[in-house]
Amino acid sequence: MKVTHSKGLHGEVTIPGDKSISHRSVMFGAIAKGTTEITNFLQGADCLSTIGCFRNMGIEIDNTPERILVHGNGLHGLKAPSSVLDMGNSGTTTRLISGILAGQSFTSVLSGDESLNSRPMARIMEPLNSMGAHITSIKGNNCAPLQIDPGTLRGIHYHSKVASAQVKSAILLAGLYADGRTSVTEPVLSRNHTELMLKGFGARVSAVTESDGRATASILPCDELYGQKIVVPGDISSAAYFIAAGLLVPGSEILIKNVGINPTRAGILKVCEDMGADITYLNETSAGGEPTADILVKHGPLKGVTVEGAIIPTLIDEIPMIAVMAAFAEGTTVIKDAAELKVKETNRIDTVTENLKAIGADITPTDDGMIIKGTGMLKGAHINSYLDHRIAMAFAVAGLAAEGETEIGDSQCVDVSYPAFFETLESLK
Ligand code: S3P
Repeated sequence: MKVTHSKGLHGEVTIPGDKSISHRSVMFGAIAKGTTEITNFLQGADCLSTIGCFRNMGIEIDNTPERILVHGNGLHGLKAPSSVLDMGNSGTTTRLISGILAGQSFTSVLSGDESLNSRPMARIMEPLNSMGAHITSIKGNNCAPLQIDPGTLRGIHYHSKVASAQVKSAILLAGLYADGRTSVTEPVLSRNHTELMLKGFGARVSAVTESDGRATASILPCDELYGQKIVVPGDISSAAYFIAAGLLVPGSEILIKNVGINPTRAGILKVCEDMGADITYLNETSAGGEPTADILVKHGPLKGVTVEGAIIPTLIDEIPMIAVMAAFAEGTTVIKDAAELKVKETNRIDTVTENLKAIGADITPTDDGMIIKGTGMLKGAHINSYLDHRIAMAFAVAGLAAEGETEIGDSQCVDVSYPAFFETLESLK
C-alpha cells in the first residue's frame, strides 16, 4: 500500500469495536448459559479466530453484520474440539482461552501463525499449572503449539511480574473452575475489561488497587454465568491512528466517534495532552461499565515528553504511534519501562526503530523502550511491517505527514484489528 503526503484530513470517523472487549464478549458468552447478543463486534481476523475456536468446541455462533449471537452452553458445555484450535495471529485468544481450557474435561491443542507460535506462553503456563492445570508446550520451547490436558484446579494467589491483562484474565477464567478464591496481583493495573465484563455475566469478581499502584483482582467459582447484551465501544487502539493523523497533518480536523476511554486503556490521550495536543471530548457516556466519548482533534505543534511507569500498560499497543508522533515533535521523547514491547506481534522496539530510521528519524533503542529526538521533517520510504498490524498503521500515518511517498509492506496485516483502515484513511483526504 502506498501513502503520500497529505495536505490535510477532514471529516468524521466511526471506529470499529474494541478488540479486547470483542474477544471477551464471545468467550464469556460461550461459557454462559443462554444467548449473548453482541453489537459493534470487531470483525477483525483476531476476533474471528476466537469465534472459530468456540465453534470448533460446539458453540453455535450467528455472525451477521448487525450483531453476533453466541448460544452459550454453560460453564461445562464446551465439547472436545474436532481439530487443532487455530489461534491465527491472536495472543489474546491463545492466552485467555488457555484459562478456560485448563478447566475442561477434554484435551485440546492450540496453535497459530509463525508470530503467534514464537510468543512467550510460560507467563500463563506457570500460573495455570500451579493451579493444577496440565499445559505443555509441544516443542518444549514455552511457546505454542500448546497441549492442554484435563486437570483439577485449585484457587491460588498469583503475583505476576508483568502487568498483563492476558495473564490476569487467563488466571481469573481458570478461577471459574477452581475450588476456591483465585487472586492475581500485578505491579500496576492492566486493562480491566475482564473484571468489568465477567461481573456483568454474574461472576463473583472483586478488584482493589493499593496506594503504591499494585492491583489485585479476585474471583470465586460460581455455578453458571448468564448470557448478556454487550455493546462494544470503539477501540481506542484503532482510534489512536486517527488521533495522531489529525494532530500531525497540517490543516487537519477530525471527529472520532464513540471511542472507549476506559482509564486502563486511555494513556495515549494523556500523552497527547502532555505533548500539547488540541483534543476535545464530546458526548461522554458509558455502556456496560465502559466509558466512551467522541474525540475532536486538530492539528498543532507537538513537544517531546517522557512516557514511563504506571501509564505504560494503559498505552502499550499505542507506542508505535506515539513513537511516530515523537519523531515529528519538537524536542526529545523518552519511552521507558516498556520491555513488553519485545513480545508483541513483533519486537516493537526493533520494528519501530528500523522503520523510524528508514524515514529519517533520530531514534535510539534502549532495553526497555526508545529515545526519539524530534526532527519534524521526515521523508517517505519503504516500511517493513513484518506483518504487524500496529506497525503498518502507525507508519501509514507517518506517511501522510512525511514528504513524498511511503510504501507499507504487507499492509494487508491490518485485517487483524482494522480491516477497513486504509479506506477510512482515504475517506478523510
Ligand atoms: C490485551 C492485552 C495486552 C495488549 C493486547 C490485548 C488483552 O497484552 O497488548 O493487544 O486484550 O488482554 P498483555 O496482556 O500481554 O499486556
